[in-house]
Amino acid sequence: MLADRKHSKFTPGPRTSGNPSARSPGEHDEDVAPPHAAALAESLRAFGYDPATALADLADNSLFHHSREVRIKFHWAGEQSAIAISDDGDGMDEMTLINAMRVGSRNPREKRDPADLGRFGLGLKTASFSQGRRVTVITRRSRGSEIVRCWDLDHIADTDEWRLLREPTPLAAQLAKQLAGSPHGTVVIWEKLDRLTAGTAVDDDSDEDAFLRQAEYVKQHFAAVFHRLMTGRGAVRFLLNGAVITPWDPFLSDEAATQRLPVERLKFQGHTIEVEPFVLPHLSKLDADAHRGAAGLRGWNAHQGFYIYRNLRLLVRGDWLGIKGWRQEEHYKLARIRVDLPNSLDQEWEIDVTKSRARPPEKLHRELSRIGERTRSVAKRVYSHRGAKLLPAAGQERVFLWEQTAKHNHVFYRLNRDHPLVKQVRLACSDAPKLSALLRLIEETIPVPLIMTTDREMPDRTVGPFETTKDSEVLEVMRQVFASLKAGGLSQDDALLRVAHIEPFGRFPELLQLLREERYY
Ligand SMILES: Nc1ncnc2c1ncn2[C@@H]1O[C@H](COP(=O)(O)OP(=O)(O)OP(=O)(O)O)[C@@H](O)[C@H]1O
Ligand SMILES: [Mg+2]
Repeated sequence: MLADRKHSKFTPGPRTSGNPSARSPGEHDEDVAPPHAAALAESLRAFGYDPATALADLADNSLFHHSREVRIKFHWAGEQSAIAISDDGDGMDEMTLINAMRVGSRNPREKRDPADLGRFGLGLKTASFSQGRRVTVITRRSRGSEIVRCWDLDHIADTDEWRLLREPTPLAAQLAKQLAGSPHGTVVIWEKLDRLTAGTAVDDDSDEDAFLRQAEYVKQHFAAVFHRLMTGRGAVRFLLNGAVITPWDPFLSDEAATQRLPVERLKFQGHTIEVEPFVLPHLSKLDADAHRGAAGLRGWNAHQGFYIYRNLRLLVRGDWLGIKGWRQEEHYKLARIRVDLPNSLDQEWEIDVTKSRARPPEKLHRELSRIGERTRSVAKRVYSHRGAKLLPAAGQERVFLWEQTAKHNHVFYRLNRDHPLVKQVRLACSDAPKLSALLRLIEETIPVPLIMTTDREMPDRTVGPFETTKDSEVLEVMRQVFASLKAGGLSQDDALLRVAHIEPFGRFPELLQLLREERYY
């Protein structure tokens, strides 16, 4: 049913730009139904940014417009707090600014300058609205005058129209003055930070700490996302509350022990994607600071995988991209693979508005999995190197749980009563006769004929020990054996060595290494 015209909230009012009677190009076969400003503006807040990704989206605009310095300011004043980001880039003239403030200022299908970091014509608005109800842009071109425009969601809600304000608040004007250090450039100020500061008090230390923690997170996010733009020729300086942000290089390229595998150039729809795999040094080759630094925001394990860059700007930070169902596992944590995309493949790689996701097209999965496999295998070798040293040499004694014995021409399978875990359970068990009975029962009832038949009929269905088990579960069993050995009086080192001699743990040098690290770090 059509809405009643009297309910002006749900129908275009007389001033609405999309008034059907004024605009309808074909009155009888079309209706014009433009979005309601108030409702749409509120919906634009929910694109999934956090303060760091939102500020990075604004920094993208600064970078494309030739900025050499980007400054961020977290201004604490309780519910009156504000966040501002300024640049010394080209700035905008009045018409450019008005168009820039428009939601959908450019069509995503348009061909962009190859260096452009934008795509959707939305970032400035969606990123800003995600954090605050008021966004002011103050900009100046070289030899031009200062121009101001401001979206206030409350004003849009009151008027239900996209009415741009022209006056900054005193705080916005003051922050712009503090930050603008160049005759040209742009400052964006967010106020009414309802999501960050609603209900806070200016003199409450814990509220202020929480606000400043966000600033710290932004610093770390920028250090990663723009690290390649912070060094070399044409480097851009980023400052947060006056302090220079230092780059975070996920590949530890300056470390002598970092391995760079050959660069590959993949062709896709006439475009080139450059892939360079890195295998980071084993922890024993890094000093404590470098090791801690490389762990990044989410730790070593979560930072393995592909790193996707678009015009040198990081979009995805360590992800196996759903290729082959690979999970992030401890023994692959040294594998980090750099992927460089041009902006002409945005659609194919499903780049989103927040610039924090990218998915490779199906057709590239094979190539990427080939490169990933190679890198993972080198990474695993480096990681396990020290674990491998624990393995028994040929001819050295190994300990098995099951033993085969022959008596009177019959073959029997017996549980090794000297196995450390069996030994310890026997010692700890208060009902020794019951445990003995259980072990005997297990030995006597192994379904040997059934196992043999299955193995004959479906040879590829039977699996080796822990072959389909999660690493974490194998590790837990190893931990228990290790603990039993220690309880039996062995030192840490001897216990570790013994674990390596117990089958099937010798097949998991990377987990032995992990067990070793758990003991020492
Ligand atoms: N700091 C700035 N300096 C100069 N121009 C800017 C600045 N910020 C925004 N603009 C202009 O505003 C326009 C709109 O920016 P917005 O971020 O909304 O969209 P976009 O960058 O084109 O695409 P995307 O939605 O992918 O970010 C830009 O295309 C640019 O021309
Ligand atoms: Mg943008």
